[in-house]
Amino acid sequence: MPHFLSTIDWSREELDNLLKVAGELKNEPIRNSMKGRSIALLFLNPSMRTRTSFDLGMQQLGGIAIVLQPGKDAWGVEFEPGVIMEGDAEEHIAEVAGVLSRYCDLIGIRAFPQFKDWSVDREDRVIKALARYASVPVINMETIVHPCQEMALMMTLREHLGDVQNRKFLLTWTWHPRPLNTAVANSAALISTKFGMDVTLLCPEEAYRLDAQFEEAATRFASEQGGSFQVTHNIEEAYSGAEIVYAKSWGALPCYGRPDEERMLREKYRHFIVNEEKMAMTDDALFSHCLPLRRNVKATDGVMDADYCVAIDEAENRLHVQKAIMMRLLGTAPRRF
Ligand code: CP
Repeated sequence: MPHFLSTIDWSREELDNLLKVAGELKNEPIRNSMKGRSIALLFLNPSMRTRTSFDLGMQQLGGIAIVLQPGKDAWGVEFEPGVIMEGDAEEHIAEVAGVLSRYCDLIGIRAFPQFKDWSVDREDRVIKALARYASVPVINMETIVHPCQEMALMMTLREHLGDVQNRKFLLTWTWHPRPLNTAVANSAALISTKFGMDVTLLCPEEAYRLDAQFEEAATRFASEQGGSFQVTHNIEEAYSGAEIVYAKSWGALPCYGRPDEERMLREKYRHFIVNEEKMAMTDDALFSHCLPLRRNVKATDGVMDADYCVAIDEAENRLHVQKAIMMRLLGTAPRRF
């Protein structure tokens, strides 16, 4: 049974097909493809765009979405196998997945890392446990990757640039008051290299490199697709000639679980903000961000309000790509290859 847990598991051709279907859905959004079908959306963390776009997308296809927030409006869930459940969780993912699979045709989950031990979080155990126990397809709504976001990013880049092969994609770290999830940065590195772009990861120092599993996958995809993947700490070098600037903040993995230590490390890097001066060094680059974004912390008002900012387009495209993904997983989308 297919799941949509990470684009690492999906071929370039399969992802291309999803993007083509998403484009058709953008032109003709109201369909009956999912009439009588349903999706359970499990949110272990807050959301605005993901929740709205999945719920609305299912309605536009004639189906329904059930939003559940375990620990808030639904019972807290235990995900570890074999555990003695003496903590707060009232039920195990084995039963949650089993029951929801009887009620619904799809299950989506948002489960951010715990920010205690990266050697544990990097295994993405929560969504893997759900996929193991579910008998319907599972969709990743953000764990340590954010595959729906990366598909929306690629759809947006193609809309604005056409063929993205060997276009210069800059993925830049930005300052933020807290150490954030690396998911969107991991995903941006995966999708940009899978589509053959020349990708530069800009981060302040080695401590902000992405986990090896994602940098290695990006390097492999770049080699397979005729693109490139490089890492730099030099701002001028990174921005010079860039055609896309994609911003995200994330925490330093060597300080994972020690936010006070990490704060001292990051404090000297506030100047990584994306501003008009940096954008002027580029080759008339587009700018985007997954949102939410703290204005004048990650990017200036001038950048966010510029014509080259396509962050709202990317947010809209979440709706279209997720509808294509749901249809593909249930076999209601046409295959284009
Ligand atoms: N980009 C994104 O996933 O937004 P939300 O956190 O609001 O869902």
